[in-house]
Amino acid sequence: MKFWKLALINLLLITLAMFIAACSGTGSTEQDNPENAESTSDKEEGTSESSKDEPVTIVYARGVDTTPATDAVIKAFEEKYPSIKVEQREMPADTGQSHDQYVTALSSQSTEIDVFNADVIWPAEFAQANYVLELDRFIEKDGINMEDYFPGTVAAANFNGKQWAMPQFTDAGVFYYRTDIVEEPPKTWDELIKMARELKGEAGTEHGYLMQAAQYEGLITNAIEFIASYGGEVVDENNNVVVDSPETIKALEKMKEIVTSDFVPENILNFMETETENAWIEGNAVFARNWPYMMSSSNDEERSEIVDNVEMARLPAGDEGTAAALGGWMTMINRYTEHPEESWEFLKFISGPEGQKISAVEGSRAPTLKALYDDPEVQDVSSLFANPEFREVLESAVPRPVSPIYPEVSDIMQIEISKVLTGDQTSGEAAKNMQSKIEAAMAE
Ligand code: GLC
Repeated sequence: MKFWKLALINLLLITLAMFIAACSGTGSTEQDNPENAESTSDKEEGTSESSKDEPVTIVYARGVDTTPATDAVIKAFEEKYPSIKVEQREMPADTGQSHDQYVTALSSQSTEIDVFNADVIWPAEFAQANYVLELDRFIEKDGINMEDYFPGTVAAANFNGKQWAMPQFTDAGVFYYRTDIVEEPPKTWDELIKMARELKGEAGTEHGYLMQAAQYEGLITNAIEFIASYGGEVVDENNNVVVDSPETIKALEKMKEIVTSDFVPENILNFMETETENAWIEGNAVFARNWPYMMSSSNDEERSEIVDNVEMARLPAGDEGTAAALGGWMTMINRYTEHPEESWEFLKFISGPEGQKISAVEGSRAPTLKALYDDPEVQDVSSLFANPEFREVLESAVPRPVSPIYPEVSDIMQIEISKVLTGDQTSGEAAKNMQSKIEAAMAE
């Protein structure tokens, strides 16, 4: 009796599920085989059939945005596409913590998030794990020319010959200086050390220099800038680990000299971007290293004490010149989204000319679309954006190793470099340890 009852209930449930899938036209097969999603693409405005009257709500996850940019982009998108509503989900400011939350959600095939921002270091890993939709068919359908973007940003989102993300904005480490205190920024790390020491205290400042030295992903970007400016590399073009070099050792020494100096905050080892930004806009420092977005915060009348007193420049040089780490954010679509078309419409907007222009003007984010640098409103954001040399900085920015096991590589580097900064090991030991541990991780 019991068996027949269960069998009947099962049969009814299966029939009901098939009926619902048939009615909505977006059954589970579509997510399992995203190629099928194309069937909805020709329908009106990219919205799914079941939602002709009611707007579809998609969830867009992103890191912390202290600028008005995200709200402004979403407002413009919703005005243009009234049939799609975008709900924001804020992830942690620390990219490593965000990464772990995405991995938890995406690996359990959660549909909670539809579209999200991915750090430039994630695409290889997320593509390999099959967390996200390949975007090639959407790109082709809408005739998007990938050559309009900086090639490095496109390459960072390409894995196994497929495009897994669209570049939304690019980051390159930049140097900030107070124009009410100095006319010319320092050109070398040694000049920085001298000027920061001398000028600290001017115009009510407490510190000469701010940077990111906490044990997290941002430490790696700061370290890569030092290493590259002294001519070193972590992994070479043939994917060989080459971090154990005199150049790395010299670079880590210089980094340590700055971090342990008396012109940085005492708690610099807790500094991430947020701490840097807060101290900077309060007018507490003469110089700082951060990403381009801090220009917008610097000129934010409501938050900043130093409006109109800030400029961006290239970072100081080591023996081999100046180097900026390549950062930046991409947009990706959850493979299991129930709204692939709507997610694409939003992704296309936010990474397209309209979205990127809003983010540049409202959030001083550096566009990945080359042509936007000729736009007078984008050029107005800072003299750096207007300077054709900045495009070269972006094109030559130094990437972190591109690998599906990048998080492991980063963890190794974070631990080893932190130990140098806290005085627990020498730069030479760190270089040696990074070499052998990264080699072992990559060999697995
Ligand atoms: C910025 C960069 C990102 C980097 C992070 C480190 O958000 O865009 O690529 O990983 O900073 O903190």
